Amino acid sequence: MTFFPRSALFGAAILTLSACGGGSEPSAPSAENPVENREVTETSSTDTAPQPAADEPAENLFAALPAPYVDADYARGRRTFKLCQSCHTLAEGGQNLVGPNLYGIFGRDVGTVDGFAYSPAVMEADFIWTPEMLDEWLTSPRNFLPGNRMSFAGVRKPEDRLAVIAYIMLETGYAAE
Ligand code: HEC
Repeated sequence: MTFFPRSALFGAAILTLSACGGGSEPSAPSAENPVENREVTETSSTDTAPQPAADEPAENLFAALPAPYVDADYARGRRTFKLCQSCHTLAEGGQNLVGPNLYGIFGRDVGTVDGFAYSPAVMEADFIWTPEMLDEWLTSPRNFLPGNRMSFAGVRKPEDRLAVIAYIMLETGYAAE
């Protein structure tokens, strides 16, 4: 009679042990679960990163331009040109405003648009317009060519200059040499 309850107790002890084991096993993976969840969140956030790029226009309008202009941002260039458009037109045959028409500017001598009255400073200057020269001019028109009459402070941000130059290249028929 005493033997039977002991084996029952022993069996209960085994059940308790296995219940403990069973209880501790799921607790370990559940501690890892938050880590797994965090990894999933990180993965999904990197997954979303390329998506805005996929939303950009499929066609790179600057594709034909040389580096670094090929990588410029078209919308930024167009927007930055608004700083110039009260004084300059870009289209072929466009009129001179306060400043000369800029069509075909690259590869041309400075100060040679027909019918535009340049300042002596520009008339005396002697160089050919390249994207690099325009970058210098736009960084600080006053310092680049002291005495010129382009009353414009300049384009401070390099990425804005890059973009507006790319935009002007595109709009004025830039031809790579
Ligand atoms: C307030 C009017 C005004 C603004 C704004 C202006 N320009 Fe000018 N720009 C001029 C004038 C005036 C000249 C001629 C300067 C001279 O003769 O001294 C000129 C000359 C130039 C020239 C030389 C042209 C040539 O035939 O050699 C370039 C290039 C030029 N500007 C580009 C720009 C760009 C790009 C912007 C905008 C980021 C800009 N300009 C903003 C008035 C302006």
